[in-house]
Amino acid sequence: MNILLTGGAGYIGSHTCVALAQAGFHPVVLDNFSNSSPEVLARLEKILGRPVVLERGDILDTAWVEQVLRRHAPAGVMHFAGDKAVGESVAQPLKYFHNNIGGSISLLRAMASVHAAQGAWTTPALVFSSSATVYGDPASVPITEDFPRSHTNPYGHTKLVIEDMLAAVQRSAPDWRVGVLRYFNPVGAHPSGLIGEDPNGIPNNLMPYVTQVAVGRRERLSVYGSDYPTRDGTGVRDYIHVMDLAEGHVAALQHLLQAGESFTVNLGTGLGNSVLEVVRAVEQASGRPIPYQLAPRRAGDVAECYADPTRARELLGWKARRSLQDMCTDAWRWQSANPDGYRTGAA
Ligand code: NAD
Ligand code: UD1
Repeated sequence: MNILLTGGAGYIGSHTCVALAQAGFHPVVLDNFSNSSPEVLARLEKILGRPVVLERGDILDTAWVEQVLRRHAPAGVMHFAGDKAVGESVAQPLKYFHNNIGGSISLLRAMASVHAAQGAWTTPALVFSSSATVYGDPASVPITEDFPRSHTNPYGHTKLVIEDMLAAVQRSAPDWRVGVLRYFNPVGAHPSGLIGEDPNGIPNNLMPYVTQVAVGRRERLSVYGSDYPTRDGTGVRDYIHVMDLAEGHVAALQHLLQAGESFTVNLGTGLGNSVLEVVRAVEQASGRPIPYQLAPRRAGDVAECYADPTRARELLGWKARRSLQDMCTDAWRWQSANPDGYRTGAA
């Protein structure tokens, strides 16, 4: 059974390819490599022992996406493609509205058109990468799916709009099945160390920054805020191993295909860890000290954010299994084997 992954060469998409292939599906990667490298496909082949099909192009090109859908007749589509840097979205909002919202509209139109033509592929099943960012500054933790949604930056705004668009499409066409997955903080890498997170430039997110300090690419970490009302004053987040997240996608797809009902679920562990706890866990995994300095809070950050993952467990039978130490060990294995990410060359 073919499954189309838009943005499938990216961080989460590439790990989901592995989980899908291991569950017996045939992933088809659609990517324009705007934030990833074709080297990912070579690494996936090493992990899986066979090539993964690639369609190189842009989801904004609706006619081409239609051709891709016709060519592969996927049983489901996983929609990862989009831009994701919060700071950049504040500086360049139109880039985000165009690529994230415009790209989603283009994909949905292509799916609708192929569906209407009653091709071999006729029953739209879509898994969408949403984010805990849609909860804005939550009134309390843990966060359940019925918490009010809000946005604090254009990136978050696009996720909210796409969620709303998907709900409207389902109201207009009840045979569509849509799984909205709200990720908490994906970190770590496949245990092979062959694929992982490879941010361009200076990482915005904590884990890649810390592992780049450990490998000697950055001098020290700035800890943004040490006066939060948390156990050690630093921000608390729900870090989830990217392979747990990838397996969550497989469970979501299977539910869409088997039960045929749409849903929205949090994908998180339900546990919160502070910045300093992550620093210590990476020190342990790498055997290297992580120099850090305490710095002012980062604009837009919240003190604590972690999931109530009950719905995903009850509905999908999925639960995160890997620990913070697993996440740091695997992130370190990837970073130390690929100090310059995919530019490091064949591993
Ligand atoms: P990523 O940047 O590594 O992957 C996105 C992929 O989409 C890249 O390979 C990029 O080249 C591709 N892409 C972008 N625009 C495209 C277009 N117009 N046409 C074709 N391909 C295009 O990001 P990721 O971390 O893997 O995130 C995947 C999805 O999950 C994104 O939608 C992101 O917003 C969402 N998400 C990520 C996180 C996180 O922490 N990584 C958290 C919550 C939600
Ligand atoms: C950020 C985004 C969020 C997005 C998510 C995944 C913001 C405000 N939020 O979430 O919208 O969905 O990434 O891409 O950007 N930290 C440091 N030093 C650093 C980096 C981070 O102390 O150099 C701290 C942060 O203050 C926070 C924690 O580490 O307390 C986690 O930060 P990060 O990895 O950026 O994730 P979020 O802020 O949760």
